[in-house]
Amino acid sequence: MKTVAIIGCGKRGTDKEGWAIGHAHAQGYLKSGHDVRILGVDVSPENLNVFGEAFNLSTSQLFSSAEALYAACTPDIVSICTWPALHHPMMLEAIQKGVKGIACEKPFATDTAQIREIEAKAAKAGTRIVVAHQRRCDAYADAFRQVISEGTLGDNLQVIAHVGDDWDILSWTTHWFDMANYLFEAPPAWVLAGMQIGENHRYKHAVEDASVVYADYGKRGSGLFLTGPGKGCSFRLHGDKGVARIGKTGIDCATFEGFRHVPFPAKSRVGFAGMLDQLITWMDGGPEARCSIGRSAVATEMAFAAQESARTGQKIELPLTRALFAPLEVVQHPVHTGWHSAWLPQDEVFVALKESAPVEIGLTATISSGIFPAAWRLKEKPHIGAWMPGHRRDAWNVPAMRDGIARTLLSLL
Ligand SMILES: NC(=O)c1ccc[n+]([C@@H]2O[C@H](COP(=O)([O-])OP(=O)(O)OC[C@H]3O[C@@H](n4cnc5c(N)ncnc54)[C@H](O)[C@@H]3O)[C@@H](O)[C@H]2O)c1
Repeated sequence: MKTVAIIGCGKRGTDKEGWAIGHAHAQGYLKSGHDVRILGVDVSPENLNVFGEAFNLSTSQLFSSAEALYAACTPDIVSICTWPALHHPMMLEAIQKGVKGIACEKPFATDTAQIREIEAKAAKAGTRIVVAHQRRCDAYADAFRQVISEGTLGDNLQVIAHVGDDWDILSWTTHWFDMANYLFEAPPAWVLAGMQIGENHRYKHAVEDASVVYADYGKRGSGLFLTGPGKGCSFRLHGDKGVARIGKTGIDCATFEGFRHVPFPAKSRVGFAGMLDQLITWMDGGPEARCSIGRSAVATEMAFAAQESARTGQKIELPLTRALFAPLEVVQHPVHTGWHSAWLPQDEVFVALKESAPVEIGLTATISSGIFPAAWRLKEKPHIGAWMPGHRRDAWNVPAMRDGIARTLLSLL
């Protein structure tokens, strides 16, 4: 018998948030084929009560916070079904408390540094983690793999995936990223993306309004993902010989040689039940789960790579080493250094600076056209400062110039 705590029971909303995914996890455990005892944890008394009633739990199985849960027991498994910003701290807490199995909702983290930290800490503690890209466990994923392995579509495979209705990548398209990674049996080498970026937020983190992402899987194929515009969602696989799509009872392939229907394999457990069955089996010494952190966390990383690509206009290689932050947050919340609109002519620097936030000036420079700030820091964020010692290599090479830089910096201490 495994004790399983669902942290974040949820409440069904009407928009793009509020899926009460905690209920789907609880149902998944109950259908996983393993003997489980469910606990519920939620800071909302209403959501906790509804969950307790839905799964027939006694008050001793319900907790008003993770703190209260861990004070009472260490569950074998926790499902983290709260909002994305809470995933990372709640996984860290679970690992630290000695929980040996975690199912974490997507997006797995809100920046890449968090992914790396969890990977390292889970490996050290021997904690098994799955990321809830449960579609990998659906029957159509197996049927697609069969279509590929039998060469039905020929060479030059390309996933064409679409998520319309104004959705965003972190909330939805990461599932299709993960599906492409599953079909191509590894993550892409790099991604290239274009995005429309406004002020949109979902679950309190920055999201884009619309995007096109290209993912390069080398000789294995490529992926093209459109998110935002249009209606509905679709996932198709194209090859030199034809195209395959998800039908009602199998994968339908239209090729130059004719039509082929590859039926979905009969599976006793799909979706959440399949994923959670595999987590428990993995914890008990069985094979690595399909949605293991090692296989599925990279779908979240691809989202950050796409954001970074849109921000910088560059293709971004995986695994990420450079963009160890959530790039859209940077675009939506740029750090103002206090002055902007500087125009830098050939020989002068302090021209046309415009104050953009309250600053404390440490040093000024007097030049022919006036007196200008040379070193300053933000009043509201005093740890952020800027200085303008010059813009030429001389500034670093010539001793007198170096002294000037040192004096400039010291003026801010
Ligand atoms: N895998 C999927 O197919 C799928 C589908 C939908 C949503 N999701 C993901 O599931 C996650 C949750 O989304 P949702 O729509 O179910 O949200 P929700 O609002 O329905 O549920 C979140 C719950 O967490 C609770 N909560 C908040 N802070 C808490 C805390 N500190 N301790 C305990 N409980 C706390 C809230 O009270 C709420 O009941 C999101 O990351 C979302 O992207 C995944």
